[in-house]
Amino acid sequence: MASRFAILLLSFLLIATSFRCSIADADVNEGAVGSDDLVIRQVVDHGEDEVVGENSLLNADHHFAIFKRKFGKTYTDKAEHDYRLSVFKANMRRAVQHQKIDPSAVHGVTQFSDLTPREFRSRFLGVNRRLRLPSDAHKAPILPTNDLPADFDWRDRGAVTAVKNQGSCGSCWSFSTTGALEGANFLATGNLESLSEQQLVDCDHECDPEEKDSCDSGCNGGLMNSAFEYTLKAGGLMREADYPYTGTDRGTCKFEKTKIAAKVANFSVVSLDEDQIAANLVKNGPLAVAINAAYMQTYMKGVSCPYICTKRLDHGVLLVGYGETGYSPIRMKEKPYWIIKNSWGPNWGEDGYYKICRGRNICGVDSMVSTVAAVSTTSH
Ligand SMILES: *[C@@H]1O[C@H](CO)[C@@H](O)[C@H](O)[C@H]1NC(C)=O
Repeated sequence: MASRFAILLLSFLLIATSFRCSIADADVNEGAVGSDDLVIRQVVDHGEDEVVGENSLLNADHHFAIFKRKFGKTYTDKAEHDYRLSVFKANMRRAVQHQKIDPSAVHGVTQFSDLTPREFRSRFLGVNRRLRLPSDAHKAPILPTNDLPADFDWRDRGAVTAVKNQGSCGSCWSFSTTGALEGANFLATGNLESLSEQQLVDCDHECDPEEKDSCDSGCNGGLMNSAFEYTLKAGGLMREADYPYTGTDRGTCKFEKTKIAAKVANFSVVSLDEDQIAANLVKNGPLAVAINAAYMQTYMKGVSCPYICTKRLDHGVLLVGYGETGYSPIRMKEKPYWIIKNSWGPNWGEDGYYKICRGRNICGVDSMVSTVAAVSTTSH
């Protein structure tokens, strides 16, 4: 009990530090992690091609070589290479810490292991930091919750497109938006159409009605509710194939009204109640949600359920289902979780997906949930 408390306290100190000084955070924790062989082995032993012994953290050069090969990383010169190696080492230490704070997931080397937390945040996240929804946001009607299935997954029902990749651009909000509308459009029309994020990145400059300088801004972030508002006003979204993703926001808007593939009928905000979230998911399709991505840079698989994670929302993702089976790490009971579609390609996480535990609004996952309905005509 006492040691559990000590870990909690330690975790809190580590996290508080990492939020305030993101570049250096991985280094300040050095020495705080003892030589816990079991955890270290778990952290780095993540593939047949990389079975390692107990001194993995000491063997970081070797793991860095494997990492470079696996993810096709090249660096311009020796200085850059050596710098990235030092960042990689810091991230391995961070993964060990995450493993301790979040034992029901597996943390380790990912495609982001050569990025500092600050680089990671600026390139791969992208929800404008507005924890508050506009006060005039339409609230979703309260739904009955007595007949909810124990497990539910929109992927099994054809409402979810393949995992996409936002690349090095803070456009997660646009992927969350298209994912929700793709699902709603499938429910309304029976067709699963992959929709254009680039249209949102190029054309959507919708601002928060209450904070005029907080606007959707391409690779610099945005908000799903504003993007639904834009889509409603613009008339709809084009297909991915007709307006493909480029991963930059330097282009001009190439929206063509005649090529609209899906239209927003309405959208609303779901209350901070996990049964209402589940009921809206089952009834209306995948939901756009915001989350604190603090544990996602090192996440590999399992149900993420950190002892401590603030509700500072910085990433937009898609809630596609929930469940409680198929989850049994040592000494842990089965635990209900949400199934989250991410936009970092299929090689991240569990084939592009993230599982986060239900029940405690972990990492703010219940804080900003929106549902959208599509117009049920196919006018194109
Ligand atoms: C949203 O639009 C759908 C489809 O047109 C409609 O069935 C539903 O009642 C609307 N919901 C709200 C909250 O207005």
